[in-house]
Amino acid sequence: MAAPHRDPTPGSPDDWWRDAAIYQVYPRSFADGDGDGTGDLAGVRAKLPYLAELGVDAVWFTPWYLSPLADGGYDVADYRTIDPAFGTLDEAEKLIAEARSLGIRTIVDIVPNHVSDQHPWFRAALAAGPGSPERKRFHFRPGRGEHGELPPNDWPSQFAGPTWTRVEDGEWYLHLFTPQQPDLNWAHPAVREEHESVLRFWFERGVAGVRIDSAALPAKDPALPDFVEGRDPHPYVDRDELHEIYRSWRRVADAHGAVFVGEVWLPDSERFARYLRPDELHTAFNFTFLACPWDAHRLRTAIDDTLAEHAPVGAPATWVLCNHDVTRTVTRYGRADTGFDFATKAFGTPTDLELGTRRARAAALLTLALPGSVYLYQGEELGLPEADIPRECIQDPMHFRSGGTDPGRDGCRVPLPWKAASPYAGFGSDAEPWLPQPAGWSAYAADRQAADPASMLSLYRTALRLRRTEPALGDGPLEWLPAPDGVLAFRRAPGLVCVVNLAGRPAALPDHDAVLLTSGPLDTDGGLPTDTAVWLRV
Ligand code: NOJ
Repeated sequence: MAAPHRDPTPGSPDDWWRDAAIYQVYPRSFADGDGDGTGDLAGVRAKLPYLAELGVDAVWFTPWYLSPLADGGYDVADYRTIDPAFGTLDEAEKLIAEARSLGIRTIVDIVPNHVSDQHPWFRAALAAGPGSPERKRFHFRPGRGEHGELPPNDWPSQFAGPTWTRVEDGEWYLHLFTPQQPDLNWAHPAVREEHESVLRFWFERGVAGVRIDSAALPAKDPALPDFVEGRDPHPYVDRDELHEIYRSWRRVADAHGAVFVGEVWLPDSERFARYLRPDELHTAFNFTFLACPWDAHRLRTAIDDTLAEHAPVGAPATWVLCNHDVTRTVTRYGRADTGFDFATKAFGTPTDLELGTRRARAAALLTLALPGSVYLYQGEELGLPEADIPRECIQDPMHFRSGGTDPGRDGCRVPLPWKAASPYAGFGSDAEPWLPQPAGWSAYAADRQAADPASMLSLYRTALRLRRTEPALGDGPLEWLPAPDGVLAFRRAPGLVCVVNLAGRPAALPDHDAVLLTSGPLDTDGGLPTDTAVWLRV
């Protein structure tokens, strides 16, 4: 298919992704349309007006495909079927079209590293036995040791626990995540063909973009050698073979005017930027910023490093404060150690929610003023804290694979509160939702916050509206301004300055014509209190 005509003018609709505000929906926990305790597509469709009013440009759905949910849907059994718990393909198509009619594009999640152990390919591989062509689409190997009783290599898992599982006939298969997520063999042409066909399937249904899960992991050293610290190239992280795969994907996306965002966790910024070359991925998540503690110097360094690593390849940066894998922002920023952690580090780590909320509000204005696109995770706009999940209700495999020491990621996946006065805070369920909501959850309900101009929801709505109307916000240059220690101040041309005070004392504001928005009240003498941010017209 020929590439459709694309308008190259900056700011044209084809460039939407360069400064989009993208809202992440975790379908299981967003809204329950049929009352069965699990969020679903009917729930999302009913909330589209809410998303439009919030002012987001796109929605990224974590996997909604047929899945045994061994890892929250990142164990896909069939990419062309919506899991019945969520709805049907017909509903997904309607949802994509309805969202588009409200100006909201749809991004779906593709998980190239692995499939579910219930995927027809893996079932066929188990049935066909050692040496069969069906096994070649995965990494099956005989074991080591006298009787093959030892795993074929010593690779560490992305989650705790082993990376190899032995099947009845004695062979082992590789899984960087759980045993229910066998890794695909990307040296096999059928694996490539199938994924490009899946991309086309969703693009033909109106999907505007794809988030690529674990994007730096799918290619493996074919010899599957033991892991040796520091040896280059790594046997399975960031291998050069990936770039040809993504160049090929890019051609598929270009034919449909669609875009990619890669989940690329790499400490080396030059290696990271290689994924963003003009014929590869459009964008990748910026985890340096997410991982940064609440510290002015470290944040400024993270921002500078991010902008510097993107500049040579001409790709826009992305900014994200939280997602379905990490501790919610208000909880993280309310802790003594405010840096990145996957979940809650340990059960019951103390947090000061008032402090965390104040900082999260300031962080929202900081993030939304930075150049590039921004991702919001459902409930972030409500200021939801991480929930303590009773041990007996935990579902995340990360918890179980840690031997029960890590609480896992369920605390940021709790069903959303919509209506304060309704059962289960208006999530929509007739009985207890799939994860319990903590006491006091209805205090965060969207309806209550919509009526309160000082709420987190009102802050996000106003900030997102200004992001659309202020020409200075979104893509474009950033210029740092002189500021006291602990204060971040930068100009976005034309005419907007963002100041964030992380110093332990109030800061004077630079000269300005008007205050556009503050994350909290200013001091009576006009000073910017600590842990507060402001957008100024200058
Ligand atoms: C990253 C996803 O965000 C996470 O939720 C998942 O567990 C792993 N990839 C494995 O697919």
